[in-house]
Amino acid sequence: MHSERFIQYTVRMAELMASSIYWPKCTVMVEASRRPAAGPVCLGDLTRGVLAGQSVVSARQSPVLRGTSQCCGVWRCTGCLSPTRELPSAAAMRLLLHSARQVVQVCSDGQLALRGAEMGRLAVLDRPDGGLAVAVDSDGKIAAIGSNESVLAAYPESSFEQVMDVSGQVLLPGLVDAHTHPVWAGDRVNEFAMKLAGASYMEVHQAGGGINFTVEKTRAASEETLLKALLPRLQRMISTGTTLAECKSGYGLDTETEVKMLRVLEAARPRSAVELSSTFCGAHSVPKGKTSSEATDTVIDGMLPEIKRLRDLGELSVDSIDVFCEKGVFSVEETSRILRAGKDQGLLLNFHGEELCRLNSAEMGAGLGAAAISHLEHVSPEGIGAMAAAGTVAVILPTTAYILRLVAPPVRDMIAAGAAVALGTDFNPNAYCLSMPLVMHLACVNLRMTMAEALSAATINAAASLGRAASHGSLEVGKQADLLVLDAPSWKHLIYQFGEAAHIISHVIKRGRVVHSRPASATAAGERCQY
Ligand code: NIG
Ligand code: FE
Repeated sequence: MHSERFIQYTVRMAELMASSIYWPKCTVMVEASRRPAAGPVCLGDLTRGVLAGQSVVSARQSPVLRGTSQCCGVWRCTGCLSPTRELPSAAAMRLLLHSARQVVQVCSDGQLALRGAEMGRLAVLDRPDGGLAVAVDSDGKIAAIGSNESVLAAYPESSFEQVMDVSGQVLLPGLVDAHTHPVWAGDRVNEFAMKLAGASYMEVHQAGGGINFTVEKTRAASEETLLKALLPRLQRMISTGTTLAECKSGYGLDTETEVKMLRVLEAARPRSAVELSSTFCGAHSVPKGKTSSEATDTVIDGMLPEIKRLRDLGELSVDSIDVFCEKGVFSVEETSRILRAGKDQGLLLNFHGEELCRLNSAEMGAGLGAAAISHLEHVSPEGIGAMAAAGTVAVILPTTAYILRLVAPPVRDMIAAGAAVALGTDFNPNAYCLSMPLVMHLACVNLRMTMAEALSAATINAAASLGRAASHGSLEVGKQADLLVLDAPSWKHLIYQFGEAAHIISHVIKRGRVVHSRPASATAAGERCQY
């Protein structure tokens, strides 16, 4: 049995450098019988290796091990290895995907964000003959990526619970939606008509519509009603490839309803395949009857302590804090006060800024070390520079700019300045869009991003905006196996085929388990596109 014969070692970078091997990643297998009773093992005992995910070698023949000198009568190991983990027992691997024609890793060197020009340089493995595989371990993490031969040499087919032949298909990371408001009651289709007739977002808002209309409906709705509305929205996200989504509260504006919304997100977690990152947005609007200064005090002195109490009790898990910083809503100073109070609780700062006019909130947010700022249609060059320097992710929402006919956010300037740009749907009753592929398409056509930049923005950089880039947003060994199987000749079809994502995503995989498959009708004879 494989598991009895071999022990897996992962070669770390320092060891690679020490032995003049320049492969960024290297997994080696040592026969268990050769393992010393204690201490490290010498590379000379290596019997098989998967090097950079590419090939299977024997130590004695490997060109990359040439240059190491002999010791122990065999080979000298300048970096002796300690085992990082024992291979799991047979059938303990979760999933093998084999024979893919393309694997889009997005990045492959452990980057926690792609900044500026890096966004245009995707890590892509190509084998038009269909020879690429990904193995997922029993924890739902990626164990190996490479040729069919190399992956199967490391993990024989019999060790997998599930084997999927994805011949001719493309694998890419699950998409990450960096900005959504998915918990609410009461649609605003009438306002859409008003806006088409010429009303601006703020005119509708000031007339008592907009966010405040949704607040009334959401306050009146029960937790069950809100959950019932939320779950199908999350299911639609999955069908268009989203596997992790940021989800805000913000239609309560009082402690009770804000907590109710966060509880609805909590209740959705075990019921939905989309992984959720919760954001507390109690400062999404100034509630009727209060000034923005009073509302600021309520958020800081009323809502935040209650959220902390519930987090400490383990009843709520909240990752970030958000404020709608805008003329006529919360000022830069009020926003800064609220964000600092959230930061004191350990929340990531991730707020709405510079959407309808320039307030220089980007400079303020960067100064506070914000993880992300969303919208940014009116951000200044100095604000862009400050965000790039601070590593604050610019979250761009092309649906909102499109629906409200706003000026385009200066995405090209952001990329030129070396900032990390992410994308989100901004799903909310104003911008009813749940599809990240549509958002990527709009980002390319309206905001002049390249397709590679849009995919970086919808994966690793969106994960970075949520503080999850170490585990999400790219296909790399050790990361969570959230991925899409695309029935197309290349990943670019996911963006190119406007509005067709649900038809070309054949499977969505979350932590190594298939959580969504394209309905059979979409693949029936005659309905399938020929490329
Ligand atoms: O990001 N700008 C503030 N918040 C949302 C809109 C929410 C709403 O209109 O209900 C946004 O676009
Ligand atoms: Fe928003």
